[in-house]
Amino acid sequence: MEAQTLYQEAIKFATAKHLEKEQKVPGTDLPYVVHLSNVAMEIIIASSNTINFNLGFAVQIALLHDTIEDTSTNFEELENKFGIEIANAVSALTKNSELPKEQQMLDSLERIKKLQPEVWAVKLADRITNLQQPPSNWDNAKKIKYQQEARTILNELKYGNDFLASRLEAKIEEYGNYLTVD
Ligand code: NI
Repeated sequence: MEAQTLYQEAIKFATAKHLEKEQKVPGTDLPYVVHLSNVAMEIIIASSNTINFNLGFAVQIALLHDTIEDTSTNFEELENKFGIEIANAVSALTKNSELPKEQQMLDSLERIKKLQPEVWAVKLADRITNLQQPPSNWDNAKKIKYQQEARTILNELKYGNDFLASRLEAKIEEYGNYLTVD
């Protein structure tokens, strides 16, 4: 199936699922699909700058990446509708809430690293998208932590996609403008 068709199926499914929870882009009134389409946009642009990149596969993961973590969707549902490789990818991008909070990110990164570079690319694209102006209720410590976490993602996944790794590096640098120095 062509990537355009795969995109349409995935965005319809994900939008409906996130709407069930009335999930918004954090700090805004925008529906969550704005975040998903931004991640997909990063992936589409990266695909034309990356050799041997499976765009149809990657764009579905981009649109579905938060469905298990944030909605009623489970692994079997994704497997039935989109196939086992998509379900495995979204599962790796999902934090294991049974682990202590400080271990959840690294655990997810370890599982991502066992999968195709397109899965690494979606995690890089996710954080690139999220490194925008932080919500006004975030204090400096929270912002510093978020920037530090982004550095961990970059260090662990930079070999998955050169183009997105340099974009993330630049975004981490820019994010420093939101920090207050005292
Ligand atoms: Ni996300």
